[in-house]
Amino acid sequence: MNRRAFCAGVAGALLAPRLTWAATGTRLTAKIGTAQIAPDGYPMTEVYGYEGMLPGPVIRAKQGARVTRDFVNELPVPTSIHWHGIRIDNAMDGVAGLTQDPVPTGGTFTYDFAVPDAGTYWYHAHTNSMEQVARGLYGPLIVEEANPPKVDAEEVLIFDDWLLDPNTAQIAGDFHDHMALSHGGRFGNLTGTNGRFDYRITARRGDRLRLRLINAANARIFVLRLEGLTGWTIALDGMPLETVEPVTGEIVLAPAQRVDLIVDVTATDMAAILMNADDRQWYEHVGFDLTGDPVADLRAAPEPLDQNPNSGLIDLSHARDFEMRMAGGAMGGMPDGQMNGQTMTFMELVQNGMYWTLAGVAGLGDAPFADLERGTVVRLKLINDTAFPHAMHLHGMHFREIRADGSQGPMRDTILSLPQQPIEVAFVADNPGKWLVHCHMLGHAAAGMNSWIRVA
Ligand code: C2O
Ligand code: CU
Repeated sequence: MNRRAFCAGVAGALLAPRLTWAATGTRLTAKIGTAQIAPDGYPMTEVYGYEGMLPGPVIRAKQGARVTRDFVNELPVPTSIHWHGIRIDNAMDGVAGLTQDPVPTGGTFTYDFAVPDAGTYWYHAHTNSMEQVARGLYGPLIVEEANPPKVDAEEVLIFDDWLLDPNTAQIAGDFHDHMALSHGGRFGNLTGTNGRFDYRITARRGDRLRLRLINAANARIFVLRLEGLTGWTIALDGMPLETVEPVTGEIVLAPAQRVDLIVDVTATDMAAILMNADDRQWYEHVGFDLTGDPVADLRAAPEPLDQNPNSGLIDLSHARDFEMRMAGGAMGGMPDGQMNGQTMTFMELVQNGMYWTLAGVAGLGDAPFADLERGTVVRLKLINDTAFPHAMHLHGMHFREIRADGSQGPMRDTILSLPQQPIEVAFVADNPGKWLVHCHMLGHAAAGMNSWIRVA
């Protein structure tokens, strides 16, 4: 073996695990695959995966570039891909039944769109997403800044929980479980990161890392804490914060939300991302294997990222006011609602598989919640009349929370709404098309908590 062949072999061996997680080419195939989600000794879990992988490959693009993927559906079910958080061309939004027909088994669809905003996004199935996302159809979509922050390494961490049969380690069926649909949603019995229950990072003490956290879980709100890491939040839902915010307490990551952190490894012995589990105890969620010697000096706080275009504070002086009420669910007072244009009692809704209404409607009505002229400033009050939290997501545009004192929160595409705590959000309806508004607890969305607006 000559030296060149040997070096190529070594490089290939070292790089292989990384390369398998980096997207190459323009084809993207959804197919059945397997993943070792559960601890060693358990069988591999059969998943639906992009390229058969859990998570799907990291798709990376430069800000302002186009992402093009010839999507091939080799699954036994129809599907489609949504590019979550991208201020996208409506025809590419991937919502079966609203922006495209689902891609049948054996079918193809070309997704081709610009990515105007740098940041951490993700892609996932948007056909029967309650089941397809739970089976693994998701992956990170990273849009790179022209001026990225200086860090020693970067990690994409996509969190999930899986409901596995404890004997076979296979994903439990029963996606229409009434308890889950009418309560908090489908929760897993195993949590993990990047398709593993025990994902770990190797880092050197003193290193500065960029961590891109994505919550791909169906229903779980991850409550996190940093241990042995000094961190700053630099972006939420892809969008840079104007000033970096030191992480001093808990990080709450609702389904579909993202947070970008810069962390310095300041640990002497232990570093981890901890999560608050169902028993309210803190557990290691992402562990760190540390190398190098402890470092005494703290580094200066990082600089904020460059702002994305078209993301300034919103002029509310001519805003149109709307109100959207979340209702239904267990302990929710059994509201009437509209379904398929008919008014039904709550019991009739339940007989049709619906447990929730959004603005009085269960599921997607024929008429949009609002018909908006392009450029309209929308001020939307979200009223949570239920006993559960909801992660409310708007497609196609980011919004800002309007706080009680009138100040504006950061740009987000998903906001956590707590029971009986109304919140207000505002956005400029500047992206034409049909856009979903829904709860990203995907069982809630499937059981009615789904609406849409039209921008023309
Ligand atoms: Cu993450 Cu309607 O989507
Ligand atoms: Cu919900």
